[in-house]
Amino acid sequence: MMRIGMLTSGGDCQALNAAMRGVVKTVINNSKEPVEFYGFEDGYKGLIYGKFRMLQGSDFSGILTRGGTILGTSRVPFKTIHEPDKNGLDKVEAMKQTYHKLQLDCLVMLGGNGSHKTANLLKSEGLNVVTLPKTIDNDLWGTDMTFGFQSAVDIATDAIDCIHTTANSHGRVFIVEIMGHKVGWLPLNAGMAGGADIILIPEIPYDINKVIDKIEERDRTGSRFTILAVAEGAISKEDAKLSKKEYAKKLANYKFPSVSYEVAAAIQEKTGREVRVTVPGHMQRGGSPCPYDRVFASRLGAEAGKLILKGEFGYMVAYKNREMVKMPLEKVAGKLKTVSPDADIIKEAKLLGICFGD
Ligand code: F6P
Repeated sequence: MMRIGMLTSGGDCQALNAAMRGVVKTVINNSKEPVEFYGFEDGYKGLIYGKFRMLQGSDFSGILTRGGTILGTSRVPFKTIHEPDKNGLDKVEAMKQTYHKLQLDCLVMLGGNGSHKTANLLKSEGLNVVTLPKTIDNDLWGTDMTFGFQSAVDIATDAIDCIHTTANSHGRVFIVEIMGHKVGWLPLNAGMAGGADIILIPEIPYDINKVIDKIEERDRTGSRFTILAVAEGAISKEDAKLSKKEYAKKLANYKFPSVSYEVAAAIQEKTGREVRVTVPGHMQRGGSPCPYDRVFASRLGAEAGKLILKGEFGYMVAYKNREMVKMPLEKVAGKLKTVSPDADIIKEAKLLGICFGD
């Protein structure tokens, strides 16, 4: 009998269910022995507190297209993983105990950056772990692509498309704030796909005067409107120079809901133009996965299933240079994949006339 535990951790995204279905189908179809699946509820919390349910093959039927996660998810920050919970429970020991009590042969974890640090910790504690790269941010080191990303690009692009028509009618400056946490993959790709005139991402701190120059240049050349795709983590050149402490102080007294509103206020003040901000927010993580993600997540799931059947543990299934590969967890944990300001895509975007505010 083979026993496999599974959990989804951190912010959800599209195609989590498709990926789990891929693992389960592959193992069931190809295992020589019977298999039991244990689904932990709400991410690592389920493993810590022993909250799980037995899953049948039928639980994975019809979920290829369903967004969210059938297991539920939560954030259990890695930085607090060694702190006892409010009842004094040692979380790491508790996770190990649940794993051993259920006599699991391995744990499949679908998660992003923080979740991979915990997965790597569990590996170092002797647990058999296989992971899949999940996040709309596409910021996981070691893989060129994460599932959820393309679906989020589609939604953020749709948002910019919709804003285009109303911006044109009113002749307004519009900011669409796009998720991505501390990296710019999502705003960069959605911004380019949606034809944004200005894209601000965390990796390229912006100068508000350059942003305004671009808007005024468009005004002079007869464009009625300007669209900005602004990353939720965008940062000005001045703020990028601040120490962590100084920046935290600034944020403590921040009067704007987010950076987009700060950019909007500066544009309005300096140009007198009418500016509006749209924040699609968590919509970007919702709904059913796009066809690309359905296929990609299914493939990742199948590769994870293959590793499990071969008894190869301690890896994240990754996509590098158009190939599925296994990436040791210790290499992935704690590293971010950011957009290089010198990347070809940035140079090409600049050739197209897109302003990054630098
Ligand atoms: O990591 C995915 C993500 O959607 C980020 O883009 C965003 O910054 C964050 O999660 C939002 O987190 P929460 O769902 O906890 O508000």
